[in-house]
Amino acid sequence: MAMCSAAKSDETITYEQIKSMADDLLSRIRIKPIIGIICGSGLGSLTEAITNAENIEYKDIPGFPVSTVVGHAGRLVIGMLEGLPVLAMQGRFHYYEGYPLVKCSLPVRVMKLMGIEYLMVTNAAGGINPGYKVGDIMIIRDHVNFVGFSGNSPLRGPNDERLGPRFPPMTDAYNPELVNRALGVAKEMGIQDVVKVGTYCFLGGPTYESIAECKLLHTVGVDAVGMSTAHEVVVAQHCGLKVFAFSLITNKASLDYEKKEYANHAEVVAVGKSRESTCRELMCRMIKSIAAEKGAARGASCGCV
Ligand code: HPA
Repeated sequence: MAMCSAAKSDETITYEQIKSMADDLLSRIRIKPIIGIICGSGLGSLTEAITNAENIEYKDIPGFPVSTVVGHAGRLVIGMLEGLPVLAMQGRFHYYEGYPLVKCSLPVRVMKLMGIEYLMVTNAAGGINPGYKVGDIMIIRDHVNFVGFSGNSPLRGPNDERLGPRFPPMTDAYNPELVNRALGVAKEMGIQDVVKVGTYCFLGGPTYESIAECKLLHTVGVDAVGMSTAHEVVVAQHCGLKVFAFSLITNKASLDYEKKEYANHAEVVAVGKSRESTCRELMCRMIKSIAAEKGAARGASCGCV
């Protein structure tokens, strides 16, 4: 069959489709979340801290993708965290799984139309900055969206102004006030030595980077590299969400042919597990600070803080 429309994107998902998914989800839950959380490796257990939790499996949401990566659950967990109503994604969608970016980041738009104001994102990443150590946490200040350089964007295709502008700026896509606040939180936790602020680079994966690629990324000022996040943040910024994101450095990228490193998924998952409680506490404290700001901090605590 011939393709006819020049404006056809990978897969157009209309405003009406997204709105109906959002309305459907709202009709199935008891609270209206205002914070969305995308749990990367190392933060899956955050959902255990959510009280009055309601779970919805991705497979039970018509039109939602499903996670295909081992170790990534596939469900939404909705409930209260640090006094605020949250919706956490346990498992995200990666480009390498075969979904177009518009579908990988669809949940962010659904969250927006559910009334979410803040998006908290975490991921596992390889440390490019030679000063970074395995187990460090990098607060993301900015990104290099390498996948987007070729025009492969979740915003490609017809733009619906109800979702956001045609040409959104990416300046301050990672809310600078939340970056600063996270540094204060890290100090309170006594983990300032392992918390950095840096630039995340999104590559398509699923290969880990070659040594030459790591050298290139280092040259252009990248601090950590991974296979997620930037497309989610592009969509979040497009639709006006406040974003806070951090990377857990699960492995060191190779910059030297004499000191080869062989990144592997098992190591990424193991480091994620070993740093889970620290990542979780950082996230809980950030949410608590938002709750305090909103004057909504009431009783319930996850016990992290
Ligand atoms: N590269 C890309 N993605 C990753 C890495 C890495 O080294 N570590 C964890 N996710």
